[in-house]
Amino acid sequence: MEYCTGREELIVEDDNYEDMTPHNAFELSIHNRKLFLTFFTVTQVPGIIAIILMLVWTIHYRGGFSWGETDPGHAFNWHPLLMTIGMIYLYGNGALIYRVLPPLNPEVKKKLKILHAITMGVVFVLMVVALQAAFDSHNYAKPTAIPNMYTLHSWVGLTAAILFAAQWLSGLLVFLFPVAGPSLRARLLPFHQYYGSAIFALVIASALLGLLEKALFLGIPSYKEKKGEQLMMNIMGMFIIFFSCGVTFMLSKFNKEKPM
Ligand code: HEM
Ligand code: HEM
Repeated sequence: MEYCTGREELIVEDDNYEDMTPHNAFELSIHNRKLFLTFFTVTQVPGIIAIILMLVWTIHYRGGFSWGETDPGHAFNWHPLLMTIGMIYLYGNGALIYRVLPPLNPEVKKKLKILHAITMGVVFVLMVVALQAAFDSHNYAKPTAIPNMYTLHSWVGLTAAILFAAQWLSGLLVFLFPVAGPSLRARLLPFHQYYGSAIFALVIASALLGLLEKALFLGIPSYKEKKGEQLMMNIMGMFIIFFSCGVTFMLSKFNKEKPM
């Protein structure tokens, strides 16, 4: 984790970007563009595979999608799919925006802030729809409703969702709208950075718990044989882990300071 001093918010970026050559090819700096972009591209692979596997699982094994009261079983399938696309893939990439496109000057920084806030806004909308799908699938279950919020997955998941909403709102107020002055902004930045990564970790934990409990609920006979649907769900979990390791590595180990 990079425990930043928050100076980034105060520094007026200079335009001399071309001069910022890294000291060596393996320097973990976002200004070492070749290395950083290689890491970034490689990390996309498990993220995209996880989404494809989730699509194959929900459509091929779980019978596709519906919405509303009539078919709550299939309405549920939106839940894992939209969470994987939003809370995992878009969240990870949204967090990396300032590293993928380093802010060259205050104008670029302002645009990146808007892009970062919009990406997280899209994640928020997908999260709300995904949560609605999960709650509906319980409330409309036949012949009787299934209780809500009784699993560890649902507790961890809802904690992540509430913290995410708080992070988004506080991000907007502190960094985009002039509610906080520059010094308060700089003081709050390390908290924002820390919670950005911490909530991501909670999301990943929640996704893995969700996959495991669903596999157990389904009572798939081949669970102990490591094949078919069960094997695919385990592999999906592993790709989610690989993606999150890539994202947190780039967030914590690639330096944003400009080379002297
Ligand atoms: C990654 C972000 C995720 C979050 C924030 C999240 C959050 C939640 C929440 C809050 C509930 C409670 C709904 C209720 O009580 O009616 C829930 C239910 C459920 N979720 Fe997730 N979920 C996530 C991903 C997943 C994934 C990837 C799966 C995989 C299949 C999954 C499977 C389930 C299942 C089976 C339920 C119903 C049983 C229960 O309440 O635990 N979730 N989820
Ligand atoms: C739930 C939503 C959000 C999450 C999860 C989130 C997450 C993050 C993370 C992980 C970082 C660290 C990035 C890095 O070290 O390169 C970050 C930085 C930042 N975020 Fe957010 N963020 C959210 C919403 C917002 C919003 C709405 C704004 C408003 C503009 C904002 C403004 C910033 C700024 C200014 C930085 C610092 C960039 C720098 O280091 O120069 N964030 N955010």
